[in-house]
Amino acid sequence: MKKFTSVSDVENLQEIIKKALEIKANPLSETEKGKGKTIGLVFLNSSLRTRLSSQIAAQNLGLNVLTLNAAQEAWNLEFADGAVMNGDTVEHIKDAIEVLNQYCDIIAVRCFAGMKSKDDDVNESILSQFEKHATVPVISLESATRHPLQSFADCITITENWKKDHKPKVVLTWAPHIKPIAHAVGNSFAEWMQEMDVELVITNPEGYDLDPAFTKDTKVIHDQDEALKDADFIYVKNWSSFDDYAAMPEVEENWMLTNEKLANTNDAKVMHCLPVRRNVELSDEVMDGDNSIIYQQAKNRIFSAQTVFSEILDHIK
Ligand code: CP
Repeated sequence: MKKFTSVSDVENLQEIIKKALEIKANPLSETEKGKGKTIGLVFLNSSLRTRLSSQIAAQNLGLNVLTLNAAQEAWNLEFADGAVMNGDTVEHIKDAIEVLNQYCDIIAVRCFAGMKSKDDDVNESILSQFEKHATVPVISLESATRHPLQSFADCITITENWKKDHKPKVVLTWAPHIKPIAHAVGNSFAEWMQEMDVELVITNPEGYDLDPAFTKDTKVIHDQDEALKDADFIYVKNWSSFDDYAAMPEVEENWMLTNEKLANTNDAKVMHCLPVRRNVELSDEVMDGDNSIIYQQAKNRIFSAQTVFSEILDHIK
């Protein structure tokens, strides 16, 4: 693997899930692999799971880890090409990346959607600069349109929880939120599930359809009750409007996942990438109930990251 920014960087999804499960069974099996090499974890946005799971994964491989919380700790970055930097910005992203090239064997970056310009976000205005200027492999820790390490962990979690004989029905359901949220997790989950042997259904209110470039021919249903019927897995996530970019059209029905809605499913396992707004996106009873596999998902973030770092190290050794 030369880089990791989407599912298209994975040659064989089933093989890489198998490798992740082997690493999970024996996480310290490759402690020498990264010896003498350095991974830079660059966060332009907040994180709990991605930061900590990536650090654990890198340490399990013997990598040196540099974590830069760029928004709080670094110089104020300029992203515009050709900018006359006579304002608040102090360092151009191009120069920052060229310097990271000198210090790191792998650069991993988190750069959320700005939610102001649809074009900038759809075209990955920040991640694309890392892909352009980095001379070492680039890993996405969540970008404007995708969260591939999360989606990989989600595939591992579904695989662990699906031992039955029929193709599982997986429902990605929109959930309420108090502010406009980006599309990366929903897009990415759709993209990865399309590569899995599952029946994927997406449900969201009218006005909240995801980018068709990601949903492709996946069935989108605007009636949550209908979509949840007989579900084996429910993935709960909020996102704002894509068509009316970053808007929050009014929704009259209650889309929060509750035990009453779970009763309509095939005893579905409930997933969420976290952080979650309890009793807004899903109820306490669901979050803390027996059907939740949400903390298992969070644990699997270690093994998705470790598998990707290990694959990248194979490429650069
Ligand atoms: N799920 C996830 O990426 O969590 P963090 O934003 O805390 O890293």
